[in-house]
Amino acid sequence: MASNLELKIPNHVAIIMDGNGRWAASRGLPRTEGHRHGTENLRRILRSSAKMGIRILTIYAFSTENWKRPPQEVMMLMRILETVLDREIDELDREGVQIRHIGETEGIAPYLLKKIQQACERTAHNSQLILNVAFNYGGRSEIVHAVRKIVSDGIPVDQIDEELVNRYLYTEGLPDPDLIIRTSGELRVSNFLIWQGAYSEYYATETYWPDFDEDELLVAIESYSRRKRRFGMTDDQAHDELDATL
Ligand code: FPP
Repeated sequence: MASNLELKIPNHVAIIMDGNGRWAASRGLPRTEGHRHGTENLRRILRSSAKMGIRILTIYAFSTENWKRPPQEVMMLMRILETVLDREIDELDREGVQIRHIGETEGIAPYLLKKIQQACERTAHNSQLILNVAFNYGGRSEIVHAVRKIVSDGIPVDQIDEELVNRYLYTEGLPDPDLIIRTSGELRVSNFLIWQGAYSEYYATETYWPDFDEDELLVAIESYSRRKRRFGMTDDQAHDELDATL
């Protein structure tokens, strides 16, 4: 780390955990092994995040587009979530992790949905770190879901503003991500937090997700710490605004 760099720990970090398949292929292993190692890595990164003082971690675990993958792989990703919830829930709860689900419930098998809901309910009182699991999630479908709900609630047109739309998103009540990380060298948003990420800082690394360790997370946070966030303002205005919040 550069010695004179003041590390700014982002409050909310979101991660596109990409490259499990290529990680496995590069070792002559089946894709399933990539997902297995990716899952183990998630545990490590969750711990590192809590240790660093990150308060909200949002992970892209299964997108609305991932249903197009071969059925065996889809099944495996469902099974991974089930196993993680069964095996890790006690420890996650003990560590004060609050699990939230963001994404569509439709399409998820009832037994799995029940487990997800039980995990969310059981950990709802925790406050050490919020883990938002984006599962069956797509940014566009989230917005469609919000619009439908706004209409079905009969909200008058003149009451619809950004703050109201925020309240209808799956991330209701949470601040926007400060930093969005994508592993494996891809430079795409892939339908992840497209509303909430409007002013997020992006960080991409060539490293495949199973190899993205605490040191790499630190490099991402160093990069974030060097950014000047202006939110559409001039440099001076953004600086004054920041001063006012301190
Ligand atoms: C992207 O790698 C990864 C995924 C689609 C799934 C991410 C899931 C995990 C890391 C496991 C944790 C999951 C849960 C449900 C808690 P890829 O398969 O697209 O890799 P590739 O682009 O190299 O093929």
